[in-house]
Amino acid sequence: MISHPIDPKVLAAQFESRFGGWPQIYRAPGRVNLIGDHTDYNDGFVLPAAIGFYCWAAISRRSDNTFVIFSENVQETITAQLENLSRDAFAKWSRYPLGVIQQLANSGCRLDGANICISSEVPMGAGLSSSAAIEVATAYALLGLFDYEIEPTRVALLCQKAENEFVGARCGIMDQFVSSHGQARHALFLDCRSLEYRKIRIPDGMRLIICNTMVQRELGSSDSLYNARRAECEEGVRRLAEVLSDVRALRDVTLAELEKCRDRLSDVVYRRCRHVISENERVGQMASALESNNMGLVGKLMAASHRSLRDDYEVSCPELDLMVRLATQQEGVHGARMTGAGFGGCTVSMVDAEFAPQFQSRVAAAYLAETGRTPEIYNCEASEGAGRVSVESQASDKPA
Ligand code: GLA
Repeated sequence: MISHPIDPKVLAAQFESRFGGWPQIYRAPGRVNLIGDHTDYNDGFVLPAAIGFYCWAAISRRSDNTFVIFSENVQETITAQLENLSRDAFAKWSRYPLGVIQQLANSGCRLDGANICISSEVPMGAGLSSSAAIEVATAYALLGLFDYEIEPTRVALLCQKAENEFVGARCGIMDQFVSSHGQARHALFLDCRSLEYRKIRIPDGMRLIICNTMVQRELGSSDSLYNARRAECEEGVRRLAEVLSDVRALRDVTLAELEKCRDRLSDVVYRRCRHVISENERVGQMASALESNNMGLVGKLMAASHRSLRDDYEVSCPELDLMVRLATQQEGVHGARMTGAGFGGCTVSMVDAEFAPQFQSRVAAAYLAETGRTPEIYNCEASEGAGRVSVESQASDKPA
């Protein structure tokens, strides 16, 4: 991880010495999902919040149809032209911004070329949507630089398409949506079918503490496990639609209907469906529980969500289970669960601010004692979504 927070003035100065010229600066956050995992690609409901870790993009124009992209994190530069964008010719990190450039061009934006410097604070591979943050930051930067209107939902859809088509991960819409639309002090209760959302205020004095198990599947395998879960859900929909009317996605099925059709499904597909359908119900209940400050119910729903992801969806791992167990043993904790796609990565706990420091040190010590790994623990609050950050040039009197 690069130092957090990144100072946009320093980023601009680094950009200037690398590329010449003062850049415009944009940023887009990572996210934590409070509840509703593996529901977005089933047309379901999610409740994510943007977190105060951003991917930053400094950008200036070129006029030779060339894109030169430097990653501060990887310390690598790539150069690409729109005509010959083949995924396999480029390093993995660069496929995210390149996929976005391609999608913007396909959607009719005229991009004449750009120098881009990307620097991300979002921990990579931890399940906090570092990929969505790169995509959304790149999209905002290019649209802003070339004077196109930035419509956050359109940006989110376009970035999701870039990840589906150019990167090859079949992600849903949650991460890109909340990175674009995030609101300080709020989570978003998002209907992933209609893309309508409601802001849900996080109760005052509550911290979102993210515990990184520091475990991740080897490169590539989490994408294929994720895609396999999607395929199992699709199989469930196909079989259920043979006997139930108006079923386009698991969103359209109730638990009672699933039970009635149980013998049409393999045990695995049945349990995948049961997770998704029950998780959709929990998301709505959690939104209401937060709105009425019913933290007792919040804790129960988070625990039920974790169990369902562990036992029915089978995307947890021993380290995530341990982290949740350690978190729930602490004072001032209202609920804890794994968050995001799973297969390693992070948990999220809702903790009273006054207990946050003690929570962090006790969980870190206990996790280290049991696993021999030092976890990273981030004390977050719900933050603003993507946008431009104005940084005055020190060398000239012209604003950025
Ligand atoms: C990843 C995907 C999201 C979502 C989550 C699981 O973060 O990018 O679209 O499916 O996993 O909830």
